[in-house]
Amino acid sequence: MQNFGLIGAAVMGSNLALNMASHGYSVAVYSRTAEHVRAFVEGPAKGKDIIGCYSLEELLANIEKPRRILMMIKAGAPVDMMIDKLLPMLDPGDILIDGGNSHFPDTIRRCKKVENAGFLYIGMGVSGGEEGALTGPSLMPGGSPAAWPYVKDILQTIAAHTASGEPCCDWIGEGGAGHFVKMVHNGIEYGDMELICEAYQLMRFMLGMTPDEISATLTEWNKGELDSYLIEITRDILAVKDEDGQPLVDKILDTAGQKGTGKWTAIAALDEGVPLTLIGEAVFARCLSAIKEERVAASKVLHGPAVKFTGDREAFLNAIRQALYASKIVSYAQGYALMRQAAKDYGWNLNYGGIALMWRGGCIIRSVFLGKIKDAFTVNPELTNLLLDPYFHEAVESRQDGWRKVCAEAIMNGIPVPAFASALSYFDGYRSERLPANVLQAQRDYFGAHTYERVDKPRGEFFHTNWTGKGGNIVASTYNA
Ligand code: 6PG
Repeated sequence: MQNFGLIGAAVMGSNLALNMASHGYSVAVYSRTAEHVRAFVEGPAKGKDIIGCYSLEELLANIEKPRRILMMIKAGAPVDMMIDKLLPMLDPGDILIDGGNSHFPDTIRRCKKVENAGFLYIGMGVSGGEEGALTGPSLMPGGSPAAWPYVKDILQTIAAHTASGEPCCDWIGEGGAGHFVKMVHNGIEYGDMELICEAYQLMRFMLGMTPDEISATLTEWNKGELDSYLIEITRDILAVKDEDGQPLVDKILDTAGQKGTGKWTAIAALDEGVPLTLIGEAVFARCLSAIKEERVAASKVLHGPAVKFTGDREAFLNAIRQALYASKIVSYAQGYALMRQAAKDYGWNLNYGGIALMWRGGCIIRSVFLGKIKDAFTVNPELTNLLLDPYFHEAVESRQDGWRKVCAEAIMNGIPVPAFASALSYFDGYRSERLPANVLQAQRDYFGAHTYERVDKPRGEFFHTNWTGKGGNIVASTYNA
């Protein structure tokens, strides 16, 4: 009897199986495509405690009970179809685990369905790509709490570990909590990637640096507070040459793809009413990049200023670094605010410091910076906004001069920096005691009698003004979406 069952023998599934086997756990593998199973057990899994199964019946007959079955298959309808096939074949106490990038409302629904049928369910975020799956991913499991004790040891063993030995895997919460946290991770990943791209664009086109020079700069940045996997791989990417010796990055078409997790994060933020502006801009920046033909045509018609940099290059380079760090802090502050609000709405008891620790190693957004976030939530688990933590507060304030200069210079030179600029606007908005929403409320009351509250009256008392003398005194109801 094998310890664990795996459905799906594509790269992520295969590598997780190899990872389990290398830690002494035996695995039974099944895939819809028999050829994939054969190629795996006769190839990379040869000589390891991994057996191939050619039907679901064979898979289930070869796993110890309660069965632990990890599905590493395409997110969406295939997961529902697989669950429907498995349910009549399971025994009480069996645990189904979905390790794909499933949308959290689907996981909430599936968890209820599987529990109602008498079994246990886990929706688990898996980050780190194919290499992470093999050597230690970041794992974010959530779902039926009763399942956790049965999978804890194996998941924490195969997960990445921090330098001080803590596993980058812990129980996140009920229902869709694991997939929700993984979704926010991906949104933050979109934000981090866009910020690095904006820094690159400024270095390349404002300062006229070559990819090699930018790579060397990132090597320096990666030694300090910006030390992270994404800076590291961008440093390496920029140094790679095409066959003709020219930088490969210059030959890559500037249209970004996306599989949808960043979009889900932005939609969740709109649903929760949380200003997640930077990740929203990062998603839209990919959309804008994707309309390449339209942009090429527009570039012939719409003109902006010629790029001209006259200042101190070293100082500006340092300012870009400051803008990157300050914007990154805002992005994580916004991502954490989204998790806080969702936790309230869905009844999850999220451990924010624990989440930072889970992201500290193994995953795509792993960085030194996450250690600081862990510290902030250790000191104050109830922290409303990361910007209010003393370390981050000082970090942003001390960099705001450079950050503002970068945004201003980029705008004056016509170089788009949506993530840098939206982060700065959020910072300025969040620290504003008074915003122009007084005018907005007056506008709503003027045309729709939507009422307003007054600065000189207690909160919760609503007023209406008959602005034109023709509207009357009947007011609309005062609900908020
Ligand atoms: C990870 C990544 C991964 C993601 C891909 C593609 O944590 O390992 O987030 O889960 O699916 O990187 O994402 P996009 O195609 O949306 O860029």
